[in-house]
Amino acid sequence: MAPASIILDCDPGIDDAVAILLALGSPEVQLAAITTVVGNTSLANATANALRVLEWVGRPDIPVAAGAERALVHGASRDAADAHGETGLDGSGLPAPTISPVGEHAVELIARLALAEPGRHTLVATGPLTNVALLAALRPQAFAALRRVVVMGGSALGGGNMSPYAEFNVWSDPEAAERVLQSGADTTLVGLDVTRRAILDGDDVAVLEQLPVLGPGLAGMLRFYMRKHIEWYGQEVVFQHDSLALAQVIDPTLLTVVHCHVEVDTGSGPARGATLVDRHGVFGGAPNVHWAEDLDVERFRSLLMARLTALAAAL
Ligand code: RIB
Ligand code: CA
Repeated sequence: MAPASIILDCDPGIDDAVAILLALGSPEVQLAAITTVVGNTSLANATANALRVLEWVGRPDIPVAAGAERALVHGASRDAADAHGETGLDGSGLPAPTISPVGEHAVELIARLALAEPGRHTLVATGPLTNVALLAALRPQAFAALRRVVVMGGSALGGGNMSPYAEFNVWSDPEAAERVLQSGADTTLVGLDVTRRAILDGDDVAVLEQLPVLGPGLAGMLRFYMRKHIEWYGQEVVFQHDSLALAQVIDPTLLTVVHCHVEVDTGSGPARGATLVDRHGVFGGAPNVHWAEDLDVERFRSLLMARLTALAAAL
């Protein structure tokens, strides 16, 4: 079976970087392109970090295009430097990239690839949805040519991580998230309810640290990210939010999803950026999202560890 083609729109970001490595270590998928968006860190940092990771694993052939440097309407009031560091990839020890992004804007690169092979590419979005909303608005035919969209974002029963209700990617650009979720695209939404159970622990990091080529940098950035998990949750774990979303393309059976109506609070009140997941169809909205409500925790962890190991062994 031919590998599934992925375009990854991301804001690297430590867990975004791990998702890039997961994609490159998994024969079920091929990474057609990476596009970057402001979120965890500045657009410049996110773009440089995507390039650093690709150069780290010898894949300068994968095009990287920079996208939006601010949210659609209201620029986010903060980034996630407390979790990912001032560079967005603190702890990795990776040198500045010597390769450059392509000249196209992220939206144009995605549109060109989608129209060249209609129905071929799955767009996986692991940062704020600004680029994806712009694509839907500016290049609707290209957006419709995507196979489907998988988003890391949102939260229902688990509560938010940027407010009691809002998850960071949606909170950073609620208008963009609402535009995408109401677009009519085949959208799978992988939220905190499952990604907070998609974990690597300190023992896993110690194992990864022994990997050739990748070990020190991977362990360094995971331990940097783990600091906040210990501070916030008192657990020596690292949530793999973005890798779980990408893993849904590698093996859809890892997640249990329910087709239901989801909408975003785009108001200016305390719940701004909250995802209202109408799991039981109480509010009457038509189902528009495949909402991830359960995962096979151990199968995901084993997959991630195995694919990172396989990637390192092949370098
Ligand atoms: O809420 C988790 C999400 O926000 C992840 O994508 C992480 O990288 C940050 O962007
Ligand atoms: Ca991210």
